[in-house]
Amino acid sequence: MIVGVPREIKTNENRVALVPSGVEAIAADDHTVLVEAGAGQGSGFTDEAYAAAGATMVSEADQVWTKADMIMKVKEPIESEWPKMRRGQIIFTYFHFAASDVLTRAVVESGCVAIAYETVQLPSGELPLLTPMSEVAGRMAVQEGARYLEAQSGGLGLLLGGVPGVMPAHVLILGGGVVGTNAAKIAAGMGAKVTILDLSLNRLRYLADVMPANVTLLHSNRHILLEQLADADLLVGAVLLPGARAPKLVRREDLALMKQGSVIVDVAVDQGGCVETAKPTTHENPTYVVDGVIHYAVANMPGAVPRTSTLALTNATFPYARSLAGDGWRGACRASKPLLLGLNVVEGKVVYPGVADASGMKLYDPETLI
Ligand SMILES: NC(=O)c1ccc[n+]([C@@H]2O[C@H](COP(=O)([O-])OP(=O)(O)OC[C@H]3O[C@@H](n4cnc5c(N)ncnc54)[C@H](O)[C@@H]3O)[C@@H](O)[C@H]2O)c1
Repeated sequence: MIVGVPREIKTNENRVALVPSGVEAIAADDHTVLVEAGAGQGSGFTDEAYAAAGATMVSEADQVWTKADMIMKVKEPIESEWPKMRRGQIIFTYFHFAASDVLTRAVVESGCVAIAYETVQLPSGELPLLTPMSEVAGRMAVQEGARYLEAQSGGLGLLLGGVPGVMPAHVLILGGGVVGTNAAKIAAGMGAKVTILDLSLNRLRYLADVMPANVTLLHSNRHILLEQLADADLLVGAVLLPGARAPKLVRREDLALMKQGSVIVDVAVDQGGCVETAKPTTHENPTYVVDGVIHYAVANMPGAVPRTSTLALTNATFPYARSLAGDGWRGACRASKPLLLGLNVVEGKVVYPGVADASGMKLYDPETLI
């Protein structure tokens, strides 16, 4: 098979879908890998490194799109890429179709086979190609929070871990899933006093077994939340209701309970945010202040650390990419139920319920197409 890796052209996207070590493994399987010059630059991978790994470097995106049987990307194809998609071509990337009706129509009309990272799903319910980005965002939430707690950023002037004889900062985390657990690990490792609120008792029991002693686990309800909010120096919003907007757990009036110069990092802002006053921001202009509380609400946090994010993402996507290259989309989806769930649109037919609901198009059963 010919596998193609175009350079990402969406604004501020510096990740790449395949790293040189992945190229080497796919080339060793006797496939051809076409990589557009500069594709790995934003993540620190040179053209020379790709060529040394066995990639055929090409100077134009069109050369990748016209020749490749499978396109590997990070972000959804943007409008200038739509005419390049063609019938039967596999496109393996994040699509987030529910967010864009026009993208859905373009992909349906192209006849390509769209396999979406975000809907590949394990029997446990885990979304293994979203997990790495939640890990990155959770860890970054504390790094960013610590920075904005510093006096020159307008924060309380607190060192997260304190020092001997001085109390550490209190990090309150709403939601103990992937983001929350990763935030807690970093905050606890830096010596902060950490509290996680979650609704799931089973999740709290698990976390009680694996978290260090400076992490307190509490069952989430409004009473406890308000009590904790008054003491928090850094609040991390990390709740998720699958398939729905985040619940607004912290209301505007609750900010009055918080300290002036305390910081909110609402990671859940990409699902609407769990803090009523959180509005999406960008890496160029990440924060604003409401009622004396600093808000950080960047919707694509992993974008700030493209090298780590690329490696984390490709570690997770690579095994699926390799089986798609080896067995074709039909064979790979027959062999893997998680990958079958990644099929969203097949040669003009919508095969994922969420995409059919959002677009109003007819839903086909993917099992009948493989
Ligand atoms: N901003 C970014 O760059 C970025 C990057 C990655 C993920 N995210 C977002 O972060 C959020 C969390 O993702 P995740 O992977 O950790 O999800 P997850 O499903 O692993 O965890 C969510 C947790 O929230 C808990 N929860 C639900 N309702 C709650 C409530 N009312 N009170 C307390 N806990 C509650 C659930 O029990 C679960 O443990 C999502 O919105 C995700 O899209 C954002």
